[in-house]
Amino acid sequence: MTVPAARPDPPAPMVGLREDAVVTSADGTLTITNPFGASTLRGLPPAVEEVLRGLPGTLAAEDELAERLLAAGGTSQEAALLYLTLSRLRPVLVHAVEPLLRVVPVARDAEFRPPALAPDDTVRLSRFALVRATEEGLVLESPLSRHRVMLTEEAMPLLGALARPVMAKQAPEAIGHLVAAGMAVTGDAEESDPALRAWDFHDLLFHARSRMGRHDQPFGASFRFVGEVPPEPVVKRPPAGPAVELFTPSLEEAAAADPPFTTVLESRRSVREYAGAPPTVRQLGELLYRAARVRGVFGPAPGMPYEASSRPYPAGGAAYELELYLTVARCEGLDAGVYHYDPLGHRLAALPARNADARAMLGVARLATGGMATPDVLITVTSRFQRMSWKYSGLAYAATLKNVGALYQTLYLVATAMGMAPCGLGSGDADLAARTFGLDWARESSVGDFLIGGAPGDAAPGS
Ligand SMILES: Cc1cc2nc3c(=O)[nH]c(=O)nc-3n(C[C@H](O)[C@H](O)[C@H](O)COP(=O)(O)O)c2cc1C
Repeated sequence: MTVPAARPDPPAPMVGLREDAVVTSADGTLTITNPFGASTLRGLPPAVEEVLRGLPGTLAAEDELAERLLAAGGTSQEAALLYLTLSRLRPVLVHAVEPLLRVVPVARDAEFRPPALAPDDTVRLSRFALVRATEEGLVLESPLSRHRVMLTEEAMPLLGALARPVMAKQAPEAIGHLVAAGMAVTGDAEESDPALRAWDFHDLLFHARSRMGRHDQPFGASFRFVGEVPPEPVVKRPPAGPAVELFTPSLEEAAAADPPFTTVLESRRSVREYAGAPPTVRQLGELLYRAARVRGVFGPAPGMPYEASSRPYPAGGAAYELELYLTVARCEGLDAGVYHYDPLGHRLAALPARNADARAMLGVARLATGGMATPDVLITVTSRFQRMSWKYSGLAYAATLKNVGALYQTLYLVATAMGMAPCGLGSGDADLAARTFGLDWARESSVGDFLIGGAPGDAAPGS
């Protein structure tokens, strides 16, 4: 932050406007434009307008603002109106305790309500709060807050102390601001809330940041890397390794042989026990072709500055960032081992994975079924993350997980139609998968796991 401000001692509460707020006045209407829209205030006395126009980028004690107004010839009624007006500027009003912290609203519905804290009330940092470094300095954030708090180094001792309950009287202004901003809580407010107790820290943060409403960060198809780095290719270049050409089914014959759609949908279930024989390589070829091949490549086009593709399952932005890897324990006609599926060439490439890693992959999958399945073939779904983040800000990973769901259902339905045994899995080891497939974890690693067997065994209840 570059806001100039006096550094009073002791820490004092001050107010200002978000640095990006713009105040204009015309025809008796004052307009304050901010990242969430614009507020218009009509019929304000010129003395009040004058003070508000001078606010962006500065901080001042509220009393000081009133003094400025009175010094410029304003009346005490106008000073009262100034306070009222300030209280209505919630989405843009910055509250600071200099020199420690500044509370900046980041959402349209931001409410800053200083709590009535008794001196002996105990307060601690919310377990959802996090501190991180940004270009603007240290920032304190929380998915429960509609503010961010810019911190100075001087605030660090207080923040450290707030890891445990601290009495409000130890730093009334700063603690009051942290509570008002939703970064700190009194007593056991968080533990006693059943809805909050149920959230993992990272899940709630992910939820808040992958939807709109609680942050002011870039969001959606922002194409922030266009012109800077090229997008990941529409189809991953298949890794080097002995190729296995896969069977290409006739879609007409498949359509004629399939049960009716509703029968497939109604008979679909997760199967963890197999009838006997493992799947054949011909079945695997048909499954992959019908569920996951590239049907065509198109683009770039206006509004879509990248090559996209069409495949049997839907995917956000037609970006198709997901890759399929097979860890094969038993498959008639295919050696046990680890393979990458090339959805354009419809072939497998054998990977030089260590046997111990392949066994560990199968072991993790078996564990995910509670030990029920002895996997024949594990399909691991990885994401080429940059394919999505090149286009999307804020929601890239959330969209990937949704794409995994769409792929799962397509695999489920095609496998059911073919009389095979499908089972989606909810957990897998991304580190192990990256090692097994020879991937850079941050660039491409696993986001989904799917078991496929030959014919289903006895009906097994869902887990
Ligand atoms: C995203 C997702 C994750 C799943 N995770 C697992 C899992 O880890 N282990 C497992 O045995 N089944 C898993 N399943 C299968 C579900 O248990 C199953 O779909 C559910 O019990 C309903 O039964 P049904 O699929 O037979 O209709 C998962 C399914 C989905 C869609």
